[in-house]
Amino acid sequence: MANVSLASALNRFEREPGNLIPVLQRVQHLRGYLSQDAVHSIARHLRISENAIYGVASFYAQFRFHPPGDNHIRVCTGTACHVKGGEQILDTVKRKLNIDTGETTGDGRYDLDRVACLGCCALAPVVMLNDKTFSQMSVIKLQEILDEQEDD
Ligand code: FES
Repeated sequence: MANVSLASALNRFEREPGNLIPVLQRVQHLRGYLSQDAVHSIARHLRISENAIYGVASFYAQFRFHPPGDNHIRVCTGTACHVKGGEQILDTVKRKLNIDTGETTGDGRYDLDRVACLGCCALAPVVMLNDKTFSQMSVIKLQEILDEQEDD
């Protein structure tokens, strides 16, 4: 997939502003994120401004503007997790990694996303590290998991 050029991916779509979401999804699927260059090319192809693209794309949690990290952390802040301290856990990860949601650490080791529900609310609050789910998280448990990762 990665060897499909951006131009050929874009050329599969009519030059209609209404194609913005499917184009963004396609480019993110190919590249893993929406780089500045990609946004520039999409703007030219669909004849809309880059600001309009950022405005739309930043509304949807699925779109990323930073390259994905080696490890993907997802913190649930859906209702069940929120009630059990999901926001505190998210703040701890942000502070520890010094990044915001949707960003990747400078060394490319981690990226961080906030999600609305991971489908296991009874285990709230929930965090996922790559494909592993950690239930009934606490700030202390989270620190231990991140410290363990750093020792690897
Ligand atoms: S709200 Fe967090 S898993 Fe459902």
